[in-house]
Amino acid sequence: MKTNIVSTATGKANVSALFFVKKSVQFSNVLSENAEKQVESVLNGMEDGPFEDLELLEIDGQSTLFVNAAKERGLSSLDHLRMAAFRLAKKACKRQIPVVSIMLADAAPEQFKSILLGLHYADYKFDAYKSKQKEAFQVTFELVAGEHTAEFKKIAEEVAVENKAIVLAKNLINTSSSDLTPAEFVENANTIAKYTPGLSIKVRNMKQLEKEGFMGHVTVGKGSSHEPYMITLSYDGSKSSKKSAKNARTSADHLVFVGKGLTFDTGGLCLKPPKSMPEMISDMSGAATVLAAIQAIATLELPIKVSTVCCLAENAIGNKSVLPGDIFTAKNGKTVMVDNTDAEGRLVLSDGLAEAGLIGATHIVDLATLTGAMVRALGYAVAGFFSNDDALALNVINCGEACCEKFWSMPLEEEYADALKDHFADLKNTGSDAGAIAAALFLQEFVPEDTAWTHWDIAGTAFVNKAWKYTEYGATGFGVQTLIELARRMSSVASEDAANEDTDGEYVAVEA
Ligand code: BES
Ligand code: ZN
Ligand code: ZN
Repeated sequence: MKTNIVSTATGKANVSALFFVKKSVQFSNVLSENAEKQVESVLNGMEDGPFEDLELLEIDGQSTLFVNAAKERGLSSLDHLRMAAFRLAKKACKRQIPVVSIMLADAAPEQFKSILLGLHYADYKFDAYKSKQKEAFQVTFELVAGEHTAEFKKIAEEVAVENKAIVLAKNLINTSSSDLTPAEFVENANTIAKYTPGLSIKVRNMKQLEKEGFMGHVTVGKGSSHEPYMITLSYDGSKSSKKSAKNARTSADHLVFVGKGLTFDTGGLCLKPPKSMPEMISDMSGAATVLAAIQAIATLELPIKVSTVCCLAENAIGNKSVLPGDIFTAKNGKTVMVDNTDAEGRLVLSDGLAEAGLIGATHIVDLATLTGAMVRALGYAVAGFFSNDDALALNVINCGEACCEKFWSMPLEEEYADALKDHFADLKNTGSDAGAIAAALFLQEFVPEDTAWTHWDIAGTAFVNKAWKYTEYGATGFGVQTLIELARRMSSVASEDAANEDTDGEYVAVEA
């Protein structure tokens, strides 16, 4: 797919596309009077809903596709616009229409962005393992932006960066585990750091992890022939000259993303049942998502300091595997009894959270395909999240909404905290029957003091077993956009604060 943002009146494409909601056409102020009348009569001629997309109709001598962008049950109008754009792109490809112009002259910037993302999503396919790669028909979309042309061109550049990150995350997640070992993941991260200006990387191998006391990684990873790694990527945009200009942020905020990176999770000696195992290729979704997000944030040169910690290991069975009942000392000094070897994500994350503290995080977001309980509670459309900070929690919800990613706030219920206590050790890695909450409470034990923290359990949302919205079977890329948006909003609040010169260094939540 190619996109071309133009400011012509009607576009010169073979086919035009018009979005409509119920009986009214959207973004149409570039239509001629004659075309407007014809469109009106087409839409008025429709029965009262449910409205379908309309195939090619002749409007003012121009073949036109009518795309239904009405809000659907459960989806925001922004999300439906994205879906409509996805359907349009699929249709144009199937019908082999080389150039389609889309009338977007009076679209709002966020509507334009959503449509563009829908077109990009339609372009994604993961066929690395197919014996024959199908040559996809290439469609050029001419986005008729009227007087918004310059503004929309800039948005399109940003969307391309975000899409590249989403594609990176999806490709990593969809790659099978023998091909994406922890060492291979490190290779990918090294390449990204090398080609992304401003991004630095530090990698710890098994020996270094053990030496420095990151025993969560060692405990989980030692049963595998593929050694565990911890990657720390850093980007300091707080001194960025491009975007922050004279309103440069002066406060010491440091946003750190921590991702669970189990390149495969067999469950260890507490073996998973065969049915739920193949999906465990996606158990490194958290790490892939945070890697992708920092790549985009650095490329966009957002004026904020961001780091990413990827906690990589393979939870395998071997003669060195951790045994149920084993006790290890975590990086923060707390001792942990491994009650269930399948609850491994929280063990590597204890190190990731410690590392976030060591590098000076003021805000931590951890992402993990952590519990089956979260899948059962909220399914694939909504991610449950936890937070120890109300302003950060509100920001997560708002950023998610702006990105068409749904978040639901879950409680860090103290009544269940005692269930984590062990007879011999300080803690064990299982707790109350409320499995997602138990895991979050466990993580909270390792959050550095005085740090705003949010934990996103993306077990349900990272990977879908059937096509959903604008995603085919497999990785969804969930979280990449919300992380970028969070960094964007935190940096713009900082810049505004700096401009107003009344900042006390506190970060305040912004309404979407
Ligand atoms: N990786 C799984 C969680 C998971 C389940 C992710 C389904 C994606 C889809 C995690 O490591 C796990 O196995 N958690 C256990 C914890 C339990 C043993 C306390 C679970 O949720 O069953
Ligand atoms: Zn597990
Ligand atoms: Zn796991």
